[in-house]
Amino acid sequence: MAAKKLPDLIIDDLIINPPIIQGGMGVRVSTAPLAAAVSNEGALGVIASVGLGEEGRQDLSYEERSKMALREMIQETKKLTKKPFGVNIMCALTNYDDLAKIAIEEEVGAIISGAGLPLHLPSLASGAKTKLIPIISSDRAAELICKTWQRRYNRLPDALVLEGALAGGHIGFKFGEIVTSTFPALEDLLLNVLKVVKKFEAESNKKIPVIAAGGIFTGDDIARMLKLGASGVQMATRFVCTNECDVSQEYKDAYLNCKKDDIITILSPVGMPARVIRNKFVERIETGEKIKFKCPYRCLKTCDPYAANYCLAQALVNAYRGNMSEGFAMSGANAYRIDKIISVKELVNELIEGYITAQ
Ligand SMILES: Cc1cc2nc3c(=O)[nH]c(=O)nc-3n(C[C@H](O)[C@H](O)[C@H](O)COP(=O)(O)O)c2cc1C
Repeated sequence: MAAKKLPDLIIDDLIINPPIIQGGMGVRVSTAPLAAAVSNEGALGVIASVGLGEEGRQDLSYEERSKMALREMIQETKKLTKKPFGVNIMCALTNYDDLAKIAIEEEVGAIISGAGLPLHLPSLASGAKTKLIPIISSDRAAELICKTWQRRYNRLPDALVLEGALAGGHIGFKFGEIVTSTFPALEDLLLNVLKVVKKFEAESNKKIPVIAAGGIFTGDDIARMLKLGASGVQMATRFVCTNECDVSQEYKDAYLNCKKDDIITILSPVGMPARVIRNKFVERIETGEKIKFKCPYRCLKTCDPYAANYCLAQALVNAYRGNMSEGFAMSGANAYRIDKIISVKELVNELIEGYITAQ
């Protein structure tokens, strides 16, 4: 009922209410049960495609296993919800094109794509109904994507996720900006991106909703972003401590037990800063200790397995399974504010109530 009081997030013919996208969380953090539960609440659930191919049929190549695992994950999600949901695909993946094609073939609601700029994504999706939503961190990136897509493919993004520096996972800012807290505020970035978007909207007569992300925690935060001109928000960190999120209890405990100072930024083998929760394993990799691994596949374009001192995928799979002495949790800057595990329904209701109170 209360959901009706929030504005719809309208992405072409996709109508999302409450206007919340659950951010994709790689290496099995956002899988079918979480994404479906979020979509069932009217928001947009998102499964993350990275890290699904690590297990499964070892007689198949990594590429084949990854494709099969993504297709199965999409089909499992479809069994749990009749509502649209999205797939997150990181541009840094070596098998980006394969995964995007699977998502298109399966007619998912949206492909949301960051950790690099998805400049060629429309070439994989011509004629498809799936909405194409790049993740950007600046007005420059918004301009580059819009211009490139227009010139090469005669189309514009269906929406843009603007991810600020308080986000979890990989962050599109310089390492130095993050550790010295000299990054721009999401609010300022949003106003700059809206200016760029307005220009393209006016020229094309197409609406490009901007979805704000990174550090959004309460209904009050959502209200603030919408007042500034965002059409919706993307939130990830808050969805980790839900019953439906698939990670181990140990992973969730890292969130529940961490203090503000435990949430730090490391330079990941992706070649971008990443926000993680400090533990003994993080301290080991921070000292440069070489943690032996065999790279059975090159999952990231940007990772040099000879230079990397640990395997990111393996560390995240370990954490997903609960082996925190050989892995770590990624999180947004606000993870320390979470103090309990609740259901997706409770979380969404809390956000809606918070939004209404903030009006
Ligand atoms: C555990 C975790 C894993 C993430 N993995 C991905 C990912 O695979 N791909 C991606 O584009 N973003 C990833 N993100 C970023 C989120 O999708 C989201 O945009 C961001 O975290 C929003 O900020 P918030 O966590 O403060 O709400 C991840 C975030 C977290 C917390």
